[in-house]
Amino acid sequence: MDDSDYYPGVLDAVMEQVRSHIGEGRVADYIPELADVDPDEFGFSIATVDGGMYSTGDQARTRFSMQSITKVFTLALVMRGHAGSDVWKRVHREPSGNAFNSLHQLEFENGVPRNPMINPGALIVTDQLLSDTGDAVGELRKLLCEETGDPDLHTDNLVAESESRSGDRNRALAYLMASFGNIRNPVPEVLDHYFRQCSITVSCEELARAGLFLARRGRRADGSELLSVSDTRRILAVMLTCGTYDAAGEFAYRVGIPCKSGVGGGILAVVPGRCTVAAWGPGLDAKGNSVTAALALEAFTDVTGCSVF
Ligand code: DON
Repeated sequence: MDDSDYYPGVLDAVMEQVRSHIGEGRVADYIPELADVDPDEFGFSIATVDGGMYSTGDQARTRFSMQSITKVFTLALVMRGHAGSDVWKRVHREPSGNAFNSLHQLEFENGVPRNPMINPGALIVTDQLLSDTGDAVGELRKLLCEETGDPDLHTDNLVAESESRSGDRNRALAYLMASFGNIRNPVPEVLDHYFRQCSITVSCEELARAGLFLARRGRRADGSELLSVSDTRRILAVMLTCGTYDAAGEFAYRVGIPCKSGVGGGILAVVPGRCTVAAWGPGLDAKGNSVTAALALEAFTDVTGCSVF
């Protein structure tokens, strides 16, 4: 069956599962600027490696805060061309089993974070990208603009300021790592890039398109190589095991493909060799993952049978 005959039916099945749950969960309010988002919004997009785009939900083209989903893209940028190959001496690749902003494990594990998908690990990656390029958030924005073909993707400055005002826990994480010698640039500079990176806004369609290099085994939209096949596989493994905080086991069980979530309510998922899926619903569960985006992805893999298992 042709993709254009197949995916509309998949979208219908996803909406069928999600419709009665729209509005569930709690919008993140620890960053005041995020608390204003309408909890009833929902969007869902599938981007195929052949260039197809299939969307449902009223808000598939509405921009939302990328938040932690940016962690996948900054990791890809430090791994490209092996520029940041020593990043793996500074951050591990194990699930943490703790909240994304937890401090205690970092103290007794000598300032080396468990993985790059939680806040301390992402701060290490941003620090590395800053050392590699001189402008971490600029490099990230450039990648996102190029992959989506939209030169207008940008940081929401109000969200970034709100992040900074409520960012004492991230400051604590960064200074704790600095005390162990695991931060190389000035802490305020690393935090500034991190807060602005989290505050970039994208729609589901843009996010699905931006992540396609992960489904194309490292190939960018223009056909050039961002990552080797092996490094792409490694990033997907980190997404699967660590990408949804301390619910990664639950996601592997329910969804079964690599995912990365953010507290803006978005989730990016990848079916290697086939497509990316971006889902967005602002209401979060207790672990910080979107309730409706998770349900939508679960329905997607149920209906399509796409799974790495
Ligand atoms: O660091 C924070 O608090 C947020 N800006 C990012 C949060 C997020 O999406 C979940 N964190 N891993």
